[in-house]
Amino acid sequence: LVAWIPPTSAQSFPSRPITLVVPFAAGGPTDTLARILSERMAADLHGTVVVENVAGASGSIAGARVARATPDGTTITIGHWGTHVLNGAIYKLPYDVIADFEPIALIASGPQLIVGKKALKADSLKDLVAWLKDNPNKATAGTAGAGSGAHVAAVFFKTKTGTEFQLVPYRGAGPAMIDLVAGQIDLIFDQATNSLPQVKNGAIKAYAVTSPTRLASAPEIPTVDEAGVPGLYISYWHGIWAPKNTPKEIGDRLNAAVVAALADPGVRQRFAELGQEISPKERQSPAALAAHQKAETEKWWPIVKAADIKAE
Ligand code: MLT
Repeated sequence: LVAWIPPTSAQSFPSRPITLVVPFAAGGPTDTLARILSERMAADLHGTVVVENVAGASGSIAGARVARATPDGTTITIGHWGTHVLNGAIYKLPYDVIADFEPIALIASGPQLIVGKKALKADSLKDLVAWLKDNPNKATAGTAGAGSGAHVAAVFFKTKTGTEFQLVPYRGAGPAMIDLVAGQIDLIFDQATNSLPQVKNGAIKAYAVTSPTRLASAPEIPTVDEAGVPGLYISYWHGIWAPKNTPKEIGDRLNAAVVAALADPGVRQRFAELGQEISPKERQSPAALAAHQKAETEKWWPIVKAADIKAE
């Protein structure tokens, strides 16, 4: 017996709980942003937004799941530069990172921090590069999965500095951070959202921020230019997507809930503390997310393909 489920109309939306799929393990940067947003989105929607972590293959397990979900607005995903740009260049995916999704909102962006375990002898990025050169292939850098942004940044760093170290894939930056704090791995090229709280409480060391300017919430951390690896800029932006063919009115309603969440002073303060720059209001639209994803795809796919970065 198959129960008949009435179609969700825009007027009654959401008549069921919304699942916001996080494509990485709990406790990591994407999960953190999702949990801050989901509470305010639920209030605006007068509904329930449940965060579900579907980790694996740098977010592409979740990508496949959401791309195939019923397009009624009750399954949506938070994704980013890694899941919705890099994965398309690096993995052979059973879905298309652009064509199989409806963009909902461009949320925010933030740089990575190059962070190391507390016990590392190096106190500056220059010391770190010297130590890596003296100890080729000894150090380990955690990543959020093969082909993830942390992996790609580490490869660029190796090329720019002429260093070699091993990459250790995790199911997200959250579990990688647990091991960095415990001293099980040496480094992470990590979204500031994840690493800044640990830097602030003295659990790990920060060597540089991957942006041309310092973070307002961490002005003590030098930029990669200042620290000696110029131009290693990584801007890790997040967005929200629904499956392709989600009705426009429902997409617009979801966008309005994200926009309301991003206007909330509490949300804005949390994002700022985590080194996140919220998109200006006029760039929070589905069209702005689509345009940004397209521009980033055109910029990064050739770079990543030329660098021959493989998922294996
Ligand atoms: C995570 O939440 O684990 C991250 O977004 C992974 C990443 O840095 O790509």
